[in-house]
Amino acid sequence: MSVSTQNEINPVAVEDFLPLNGTDYVELYVSNSKQAAHYYKTAFGFQDYAYRGLETGEKDTESYVLAQDKIRIVLSSPLHSGTAIGKHIDKHGDGVKVVALWVDDATDAWKQTTSRGAKSYMEPTVEEDDHGRVVRSGIHCYGEVVHIFVERKDYTGAFLPGFAPMKTDYNPPTVGLKYVDHMVGNVALGRMNYWVKFYEDVMGFDNILTFDDKDISTEYTALMSKVMSSGNGYVKFPINEPAAGKKKSQVEEYLDFYEDEGVQHIAVATDNIIDTVQKLKSRGVEFLRVPSTYYDTVLDRVGQIDEDLKPLSDLGILIDRDNEGYLLQLFTKPVQSRPTMFFEIIQRKGAKSFGKGNFKALFEAIEREQELRGTL
Ligand code: FE2
Repeated sequence: MSVSTQNEINPVAVEDFLPLNGTDYVELYVSNSKQAAHYYKTAFGFQDYAYRGLETGEKDTESYVLAQDKIRIVLSSPLHSGTAIGKHIDKHGDGVKVVALWVDDATDAWKQTTSRGAKSYMEPTVEEDDHGRVVRSGIHCYGEVVHIFVERKDYTGAFLPGFAPMKTDYNPPTVGLKYVDHMVGNVALGRMNYWVKFYEDVMGFDNILTFDDKDISTEYTALMSKVMSSGNGYVKFPINEPAAGKKKSQVEEYLDFYEDEGVQHIAVATDNIIDTVQKLKSRGVEFLRVPSTYYDTVLDRVGQIDEDLKPLSDLGILIDRDNEGYLLQLFTKPVQSRPTMFFEIIQRKGAKSFGKGNFKALFEAIEREQELRGTL
């Protein structure tokens, strides 16, 4: 151990006024939470976690909470007509309502963000049961999506006060999904920079990457995207807006069918994408497919990788490299009736980027799907 003889000068830390520990949960409003829970368990390997509904004394809403490693999803449906959740489903179809963020101080998170211009969704609220207390607060973001700040350091219960632990006899194994890597929002034409500024000013995020329509365009469609990252990098929200193209872009198709801005995809990380995608496919999850010619030249573009190319090409897994490493990724088809939200499965091997080298092949694959839907 060395002893310094003079005071060391510490770099001035940039104050992070909204320190986030990660994504706490993602809540989807769905038309049939019971069947959605079965789907996410059967197809995606989520596990029983917690429940709130008639059996726990809740009269208006039924919610299933499922988990896989650090990922928690909440699936909520109304138990009668005329509810806010019912109206949300009528307008948008199934979709993400809450992107909840884990904080140490939900009261301060609310004060910091609302004092910087966020519109309040939920004032700091203490919820308690025999297992302790949770403080939650919330703000609005794009569309009808909200961020709820969750402070759970004094809580040892299953999920939140009011929820009972969920245990059933039907427990399909996991598929190796680990954590939410990023969640992408689609916003209206001309609104990307507004929301970039919102995340910068209100939440202290940084714009770490920008893609314009030259990066992300095909013969027909284009989009622009900026990646926003929390101060510590634990939470990343890319934001897309449509750009002018010859035909309707995938972002416009989303906005038309969701009838609003909203969450386009949830990217979930795995340590073994070949194994995870094999399992997801065998359990009925449908993926986008790029032409097999993609694999003729991909290694010229990305160089040496640890995996054999054969299983990657058999499964249609995409590869990209940046100056820090490479990544493997694959996108599902939309997971509800409307062509809106989908999932991305991602394995990072050093790369911190988002697969720019795959955009063209990927968007052409999406356009083939749009063509089939008659929405291109
Ligand atoms: Fe993504």
